[in-house]
Amino acid sequence: MAVYRKDIRVKRFPVVERGGSHYEDIAGLALDNSINHLNHCYKSKLCGAEGAVEFRDGGVYTYDNHGKRYLDCLGGYGIFNVGHRHPKVINAVKAQLDQVCLHSQDLLNPWAAHLASQLAAIAPGDLQYSFLCNSGTEAVEGAIKLARLYTKKTEIISTKNAYHGVSMGALSATGRDVFRKPFEPLLNGFTHVPFGDIEAMEAAITPETAAVILEPIQGEGGINVPAAGYLRKVRQLTKKHGVLLILDEVQTGMGRTGRMFACDHEGVVPDILCLAKALGGGVMPIGCFMSTSKIWKVLEPNPSIHNSTFGGNPLACTAASACIEVLLEEHLPARAAVMGNYFMRKFNELKDKYPGFIADVRGMGLLIGLEWTSKELREKVQVELFHRGVLVAATMNANRTMRIEPPLIITESQINLMIETLEGIISEITEEELVELNAEAAAEIKASKKAKAAEPKVRRRRVACPRYGMKLVLAPVKKGKKKDASKKKGNKLKAEPSKNAKGGKKSKKGAGDKSKGRK
Ligand SMILES: Cc1ncc(COP(=O)(O)O)c(C=O)c1O
Repeated sequence: MAVYRKDIRVKRFPVVERGGSHYEDIAGLALDNSINHLNHCYKSKLCGAEGAVEFRDGGVYTYDNHGKRYLDCLGGYGIFNVGHRHPKVINAVKAQLDQVCLHSQDLLNPWAAHLASQLAAIAPGDLQYSFLCNSGTEAVEGAIKLARLYTKKTEIISTKNAYHGVSMGALSATGRDVFRKPFEPLLNGFTHVPFGDIEAMEAAITPETAAVILEPIQGEGGINVPAAGYLRKVRQLTKKHGVLLILDEVQTGMGRTGRMFACDHEGVVPDILCLAKALGGGVMPIGCFMSTSKIWKVLEPNPSIHNSTFGGNPLACTAASACIEVLLEEHLPARAAVMGNYFMRKFNELKDKYPGFIADVRGMGLLIGLEWTSKELREKVQVELFHRGVLVAATMNANRTMRIEPPLIITESQINLMIETLEGIISEITEEELVELNAEAAAEIKASKKAKAAEPKVRRRRVACPRYGMKLVLAPVKKGKKKDASKKKGNKLKAEPSKNAKGGKKSKKGAGDKSKGRK
């Protein structure tokens, strides 16, 4: 008989019974186990502190163990596009449970093949092949590997503040030090240019560049929508230099921004497309990266050169297939566009009515960023929304920004309810309280203005760039500084890229780091 270190029999998940103090017991146990066996920080997590335990969900709502209902404007960080527990997805998975759950790995897997054919049908352009995995991080990891394998080059250009996941490859593409620094050295060959800056991107391209990886809208970076035409210009640029374009639509995909994929807004077809999150219909975890038959050829000699045991499992595939059907049958991408416009109009009305609270409203479809005037204010409003039954959260790389990512099935009256709740909270915050909440942010702004004023003045020159039909702003050449020949295109491996390539004629490498970005 096996001997366990501890008696596992006491570790059964509590059976739910109605009435009495049973729900409180479950909540207490969940909090204890979370603190002691997941992470001690659960002690201070909002729901933990409230004794609120997730209990059931459906549609646009989540319910806690007390029976309290929460309007879900967070959408599980963008996984519930078709809503919580959509009946079509649930029924497909239930039926699949009675047939095959995980695949043998030996016989043909009809569910994976069917899903891949559906993905090819909805994907932009000639993206035809899919590799099925289990998460967004894995999709990005695979995309990076495919780009390197196909081009036989190693360098990848990403953007500052990008979020592509946290495995070592995906993390190398992620553009924020707080995630990256503790794990360095990461993969060689990654550069990060300011999001939205086509000139910096071109300057960062070298003969060794395999790919550019980009979110069409930066999600975790703070719901940053680039200027119209940016994605098209990136596509033109990458084509011109023979560089692959990887679009990470893990968060923007599956109808979230008002089209099936965010790149559809500009008619851009990437070479590699990454999907995950909502692809699983809010029921199963699944991710994928897709590409063209031309690029996929490099996976033919050894198809298992990149692989995953659970990737393409029948349960996840049936959920994803049902999800795609629901998105199309219920016209959810178009619905996201309409409801997103309505939501943003309402947020803008609040912004104008209560100056000093909301700094910016931005987004596309139902991927909306609500930037507050300070992190402290965002936190206060978020906690209050929770108490009043609305779920929201911050974006990971921009803590003043509240993400609004509800299921795409949200109705106008549910949006009105969220807006009324929000207005109730804002109107209760006194002027003194607002000043106090914004004090730190105000001090930061003051300090950065002072630092900027102390910087030596540089005269800027505007020149037309006919190739991209835009104006570029160039710093003038400083007298007496010689161009560093080691930073020329082709010499990048020998040169350590300068972090502050100010002055001197702008070198290709230095330009990638010259700006502090948009935020
Ligand atoms: C754009 C993007 N890519 C990749 C990821 C990583 O996905 P996952 O958390 O499923 O690994 C995320 C997660 O938020 C994301 O937003």
